[in-house]
Amino acid sequence: MAKLQIRKVGDEVLRKRCRPVEEITPRILTLLDDMVETMRDADGVGLAAPQVGVLRRIVVIEVEEGEVLELINPRIVATSGKQEGMEGCLSLPGRRGVVKRPKHVTVQALNRHGEQVEISGSDLLARAFCHELDHLEGTLYVDRAERMEEI
Ligand code: NI
Repeated sequence: MAKLQIRKVGDEVLRKRCRPVEEITPRILTLLDDMVETMRDADGVGLAAPQVGVLRRIVVIEVEEGEVLELINPRIVATSGKQEGMEGCLSLPGRRGVVKRPKHVTVQALNRHGEQVEISGSDLLARAFCHELDHLEGTLYVDRAERMEEI
């Protein structure tokens, strides 16, 4: 495994739309491993492929320690409720902002074995799904934040 460089705001790659993964190759599996290592090293709860310079629809999330979600071609299939809370991003260090998100979110994706999975999450996990999937569209949480602050 290798730690990857996290792209920071201002880098064009963060503003591009990602393409689907058509085939889960050994290279994709290595990317997943490297993204998990990079996310953990940076103390993040999620990381999307464009944040490491790869324009593919891949995200990793670890809201509960030890429970890593590796999502390939994820899409949100259901949302309900509302929550408002603080959000940050490894690509925008030193800042955070208040963002409204759904309280419950269900995502369908492929796992690393190419199997279709459906995962439902609430609260922080629902927020992470929305935040990380936004990255795949070139959207950053600052685009949605009601107010920002320095930390
Ligand atoms: Ni982010």
